[in-house]
Amino acid sequence: MKPEDFGIRDGINEVIGTTRWKEINSAPIGIRKRGERVWAVLYPGSHTFENVKHTGMLVANVIHDPVVFAISSFDDLSDDNFLSFDPPILKDTSAYAIFHAELEGNTANLKLEGGKVLKMEVRAINRGLNAIIEACVHGTRVQKDPSLKERVKYYLAIAEKCGGEREKIATEIIRDYLNI
Ligand SMILES: Cc1cc2nc3c(=O)[nH]c(=O)nc-3n(C[C@H](O)[C@H](O)[C@H](O)COP(=O)(O)O)c2cc1C
Repeated sequence: MKPEDFGIRDGINEVIGTTRWKEINSAPIGIRKRGERVWAVLYPGSHTFENVKHTGMLVANVIHDPVVFAISSFDDLSDDNFLSFDPPILKDTSAYAIFHAELEGNTANLKLEGGKVLKMEVRAINRGLNAIIEACVHGTRVQKDPSLKERVKYYLAIAEKCGGEREKIATEIIRDYLNI
């Protein structure tokens, strides 16, 4: 069993990280992989960081739904979005990988413990989906740097032009959260 079996490859893999301690949390997280080494850099103070610190567990949901990325960037998903709560696994995820996570400062060193592929799907690259991910990345930094709103608007225009129905819904969610 290796991370590639669940779609996690060399580079940065944008997944929805689900963790559970006092409460379940979901947040987009970049799982980094170089050769045998797999890790994530977590913002100290985030729910993901706190849950990982207390439980040593992180589930990577390999999912392509822009709406799930939009909601979990700014808020938490509702219970309806979960296939199971323990371990926390999202509905509609193509695959999930369960990692043992050991924190070293703000780096979580990840060791694969299990996982499953739930859907095999063939997908063309869609610039709208990619643009939603970019909009979410910059959108989660807007509080620190309000000028990033302009960048978010740029990516949302691409999402509207190139995306399908789910990207359009995600665009509206991001606009609402950021008030743009
Ligand atoms: C595509 C994407 C990737 C992200 N990657 C990370 C990451 O690797 N580490 C991290 O701490 N936050 C990352 N973030 C930001 C968190 O998702 C965001 O700060 C979230 O609100 C964390 O909240 P939490 O308190 O629910 O854990 C990413 C956001 C996006 C949109």
